[in-house]
Amino acid sequence: MHSYFPEHKTADDTSAIEHLLDLTFGLSRSTKTSYRLREGNTAAQGMSLVVREPGFGLVGAISFWPLIIGRADAPALLLGPLAVHPERQNLGIGRLLMNEGIAKAKARGHALMILIGDEPYYARVGFARVPEGQIQVPGPVDLKRLLYLEMQPGVLKKAKGLALAPWRWRQIIDLRATT
Ligand SMILES: CC(C)(COP(=O)(O)OP(=O)(O)OC[C@H]1O[C@@H](n2cnc3c(N)ncnc32)[C@H](O)[C@@H]1OP(=O)(O)O)[C@@H](O)C(=O)NCCC(=O)NCCS
Repeated sequence: MHSYFPEHKTADDTSAIEHLLDLTFGLSRSTKTSYRLREGNTAAQGMSLVVREPGFGLVGAISFWPLIIGRADAPALLLGPLAVHPERQNLGIGRLLMNEGIAKAKARGHALMILIGDEPYYARVGFARVPEGQIQVPGPVDLKRLLYLEMQPGVLKKAKGLALAPWRWRQIIDLRATT
């Protein structure tokens, strides 16, 4: 069996990643609420990872995005999208990408990660359901799919309110200051 390892995404991977995301999530993927958290946002530096297979191409990709939750300035990372090529699923590539991303997040001092996704899958690396009412997102969400992972024990309780990209919070605060 081929052995896979995560590498940093380069600019040359961009179109292959878009293609992979279309393939795995469908063409209407940008209507999802998680896209509202990514638009205008910049992916966390050094944390966009890919897995490639010689002769096949891109087989997996993951990225992480900075967020602020509520006005208490609780920073967090959004995990996603995570995608593995349909012909290479169930080989541990998704888990490899998640574990590498989580290790990088810890090494950079990030305390909290959230995502919108399937709990049975993400629970395998420690994600759990956000307690109802604690975190809101800018769009419809099935609360069973709003998940968190504490990388520093106890940080979730400080993260209360609306999760937005940092630039959106800055815009809201500036607007309030000028009205
Ligand atoms: C979800 C996804 C990233 C998993 O990647 P992967 O490399 O195939 O996953 P891994 O090899 O790390 O793990 C496979 C295991 O997870 C399970 N699994 C995969 N997707 C799952 C899901 N959505 N819910 C629950 N379990 C899931 C598999 O059944 C398998 O279980 P096993 O180890 O008991 O046999 C990949 O299937 C994918 O890109 N899917 C398309 C997008 C999608 O459906 N996302 C849904 C999650 S938000």
